[in-house]
Amino acid sequence: MARIDEIVGGIYRISTMPKDSPVGFNQFLIDDEHAALIHTGMAPMYEDICNAIRQVLDPARLAYIILLHFEGDECGGMERFMAQARDAQLVGCELSAALNLNSFDFACQGRVIGKRDGAVIDLGRHKLSILETPHVHHWDSMMLWEETTRSLFPADLFIQPGDQPPVIRENLSSAMCELYRHVGIFAHEDPVRRVVDRVERMQPEWVHAMHGGTLTGQVFPRFASALREQPFAFNGKLLGRALASKQVVA
Ligand SMILES: [Fe+2]
Ligand SMILES: [Fe+2]
Repeated sequence: MARIDEIVGGIYRISTMPKDSPVGFNQFLIDDEHAALIHTGMAPMYEDICNAIRQVLDPARLAYIILLHFEGDECGGMERFMAQARDAQLVGCELSAALNLNSFDFACQGRVIGKRDGAVIDLGRHKLSILETPHVHHWDSMMLWEETTRSLFPADLFIQPGDQPPVIRENLSSAMCELYRHVGIFAHEDPVRRVVDRVERMQPEWVHAMHGGTLTGQVFPRFASALREQPFAFNGKLLGRALASKQVVA
């Protein structure tokens, strides 16, 4: 079952904690004149997520379905959401559109938009700015900045393991780094640290992690410091499975 909680100013976290999963999975709904869904979850989660959205608005009136990179938990449900919301546009960064989204049917229907760094999606009260963040996890990774609530949507950066409440005020940054080393989602620390510096300068008040809870502006600097001070890049493990040493470049 997905639960839905308003975090701040019309921004809702929809959260599912599958049994035996090390992390929960979040989507974010922004209720506005032009409503937006950020991440779709995996396809089998579609009905649960739709039911959660219905507590706030009709999923058929979503105007934007926004993918922060191309991976199953971020976009597995995109075809079903696009089928239900007939006027919705599918938004990714320009690279993701070229590499991935333009290969699907809805691109032929003219329903894919690729955006570059600095572009703004105007939802009405909320304005979403694109931050291109290549190699922060994936080649086509991007983040979103929402100015009116000073919200950052960082996808898989600043995540926490386990079933977390909607808002995080405690320092779980060491657990975050340990999770990253365990699952191996970042090839290297450098591109990540450059983005950490950039987003810290923006002084977010809310950091809506895709796994775990939303960090407050007060605790966020602790997570940023941990990413500067602790190792967290791929060290031979994929989803906790240690690869044979000859498969790992030292
Ligand atoms: Fe991801
Ligand atoms: Fe994710």
